[in-house]
Amino acid sequence: MISRKWILVTHQLRFKQAGEYTSVVYADFPFFLVQDRQDNINGFPVCRHRAYPIVETQSGKARILSCKYHGWSYGFKGNVTKAGFIWVNLQGKCGRRLLNWLAK
Ligand code: FES
Repeated sequence: MISRKWILVTHQLRFKQAGEYTSVVYADFPFFLVQDRQDNINGFPVCRHRAYPIVETQSGKARILSCKYHGWSYGFKGNVTKAGFIWVNLQGKCGRRLLNWLAK
């Protein structure tokens, strides 16, 4: 069970440039913090596809956030920018539903 209390994980001064990240594990819950291009610090858990870790080192600087398992990529705000698969629909009219599904 995860506490509802705020937890102190790091200091803002640790982030100086877009793409700098730091990993945190709290109560067996892994997540990481990354600075975006607007100097916001955003937090994410694991890959949305199959929950593989997106960053695998304690800290660093990434040009892109890419899951090494199947190649999904994320922007620094957590948006999916590339899914490593090519999707087809044999009925030819379900593209919007795929994007909605990927956004979940
Ligand atoms: S688990 Fe991340 S792309 Fe599949």
